[in-house]
Amino acid sequence: MTLLISPPPALARDIDGKAISARVLDEVREEVLALAEEQIYPALAVLLVGEDPASEVYVRNKLLRAKEVGIRSLEHRLAENASQNEVLELIAQLNADASVNGILVQLPLPAHIDEQAVIHAIHPIKDVDGFHRENVGGLVQGIEVLTPCTPSGCMRLLRETCGDLSGLHAVVIGRSNIVGKPMATLLLQADCSVSVVHSRSVDAPTLCRMADIVVAAVGRPHLIDASWLKPGAVVIDVGINRIAGESGPRLVGDVDYASARTVASAITPVPGGVGPMTIAYLLKNTLIASQLQRAVQLGGPQVVSVPVSG
Ligand code: GUN
Repeated sequence: MTLLISPPPALARDIDGKAISARVLDEVREEVLALAEEQIYPALAVLLVGEDPASEVYVRNKLLRAKEVGIRSLEHRLAENASQNEVLELIAQLNADASVNGILVQLPLPAHIDEQAVIHAIHPIKDVDGFHRENVGGLVQGIEVLTPCTPSGCMRLLRETCGDLSGLHAVVIGRSNIVGKPMATLLLQADCSVSVVHSRSVDAPTLCRMADIVVAAVGRPHLIDASWLKPGAVVIDVGINRIAGESGPRLVGDVDYASARTVASAITPVPGGVGPMTIAYLLKNTLIASQLQRAVQLGGPQVVSVPVSG
């Protein structure tokens, strides 16, 4: 007698953000060494206002990784009740300081400070987050500018997983300025057909099931499970959500990993997927910013664009 037992579903392979980010960091380290031969020492200033515990962790990791690749980092801290003027004055000093190549203001800022005013006070050529309107505009027009770090990191993961993305249908879940919008723009530049799904979308799971590539960036733990996915989809999970686990708090993504990997062909774990890529691309941007500033000092064109590889 033959028993009809269906085989367990093949599980998606993990997209290893730790390994891929290590390669990006190696590339940055090599270029930093080459610049040192010319007495150029890229430097990143990180500004933290207040004592948000998650921001403290992110900033500490950024500073650690900078050190590892030989990028000088300068940590500036202001108290929770610092005024907007104090923040703007510090940014003006950093803009004027030729030894500082990149400026990052850790978000979120305390509620009394206007985030947009702060972002736009940073000189676009030092805006290693790629959030300044000048860089956002350049990105949309296809000019190669300083580009937001998380979407750049996600693109690298996708290229290393899928190769050519041309013609694929990508669904981006979430429309933030930091991830969703620039991600959609980069996917469009890579010749994908792009849909952006958000809180007002009608029947998000059905839209998502049409995707070859799903990028989840909504900040809602485990929102997306297998029922949202087309078989074989590639899933990039940008979410980092802290939830209560049986043995204390734990980090989970926007995607229910255990469920999604029964349908997807490849998926980023949380942690160890997108997170390390964001920092690697921040350091890559710092390097690009220093090269850009060097080009301007040498009398190059007064534009904020720069050839970007990877
Ligand atoms: N807070 C969360 N993500 C980011 C980021 O990419 N850049 C900055 N500056 N703050 C953040």
